[in-house]
Amino acid sequence: MGEPILSVRGLTTTFRTETGVFAAVDDVSFDVAPGEVLGIVGESGSGKSVTALSILGLLPDPPGRIASGSIRFDGREIVGLPKKALRSLRGPSIGMIFQEPMTSLNPVFRIGDQITETIRAHESISKADARKRAIGLLDRVGIAMAGQRLDDYPHQLSGGMRQRVMIAIALACSPRLLLADEPTTALDVTIQAQLLDLLRDIQRDTGMAVVIITHNMGVIAEFADRVLVMYAGRVAEQGTVDAVFSTPRHPYTVGLLGSTPSLEREEARLTTIPGVLPQLSQILPGCRFAPRCGRRTDACTAAKPPLVEFGGGQRVACFHGDVAGPGSLP
Ligand SMILES: Nc1ncnc2c1ncn2[C@@H]1O[C@H](COP(=O)(O)OP(=O)(O)OP(=O)(O)O)[C@@H](O)[C@H]1O
Ligand code: SF4
Ligand SMILES: [Mg+2]
Repeated sequence: MGEPILSVRGLTTTFRTETGVFAAVDDVSFDVAPGEVLGIVGESGSGKSVTALSILGLLPDPPGRIASGSIRFDGREIVGLPKKALRSLRGPSIGMIFQEPMTSLNPVFRIGDQITETIRAHESISKADARKRAIGLLDRVGIAMAGQRLDDYPHQLSGGMRQRVMIAIALACSPRLLLADEPTTALDVTIQAQLLDLLRDIQRDTGMAVVIITHNMGVIAEFADRVLVMYAGRVAEQGTVDAVFSTPRHPYTVGLLGSTPSLEREEARLTTIPGVLPQLSQILPGCRFAPRCGRRTDACTAAKPPLVEFGGGQRVACFHGDVAGPGSLP
């Protein structure tokens, strides 16, 4: 990989709660190359959104804070930057799309104004030119009669159209990296597939890098070049989509692949891995997946499994990662 556009090292993000301080993201490291699509996958509560919010400088602080680690965007350290500097990165450098467009779009402003304001917040450009650009963006994200739609309020659009508007806003300043946190999860399966196709086309046209966060291995298979599997705040496995799908080495990855082979089978997601994610406030030493793992041995509960490299960038945090696929130990 060339110089990464995003490089995260040892990221640990903690929350202070009534029962103490716990790490929602614990020592997470990954890189994203320019033009690359990285998928981050894991169950609800595994730390995917907290990772994204840490990168964007949008953690609710307090109770959240980056306790340690480094996040470099285009070679520049962004942990510890003042709020204003972080704000100026969001939009022109790092675009973002979240799951719920109704909460991200302001219900009292016309969508055209929301797009042009985003452009004018970062560029000195006339209102008329910003409006022209907004029409082009709506057109690009597949909204018909874009010139008229600009004057609509968010509630006049369908859920799928609102999410298209969010994509248009995210692209408004031509970011080099797009962070998309469950961008299609709230939508029905057909609309999800259309929006993923759209995002993929735009990614190919623009060459921007994308980090896409999802519960769904089907989305990863269709969209990502590399994948980071997270479990209870830690990296379980990472590697190219080809390697991880053909030779999954972490029992959790094996479970994910067993439960969600395709976008269409969304309803079956993650139901075949018995057990639930541990409460982060009650975590025991050793491997966090141990209570649910059919491969577990005494070693697993004694110490934290280190990330082990298996070639081609595939790294696995499992004492028994040399057993590829669903196989159990002899
Ligand atoms: N504001 C907060 N205060 C306290 N704990 C929080 C806060 N936000 C997140 N957490 C905790 O951090 C952990 C990781 O949450 P996160 O939102 O990153 O999960 P996720 O992987 O994005 O899940 P989902 O798939 O449901 O979006 C969870 O245990 C969650 O309860
Ligand atoms: S380290 Fe042990 S408990 Fe953890 S995933 Fe690997 S085999 Fe299972
Ligand atoms: Mg989330």
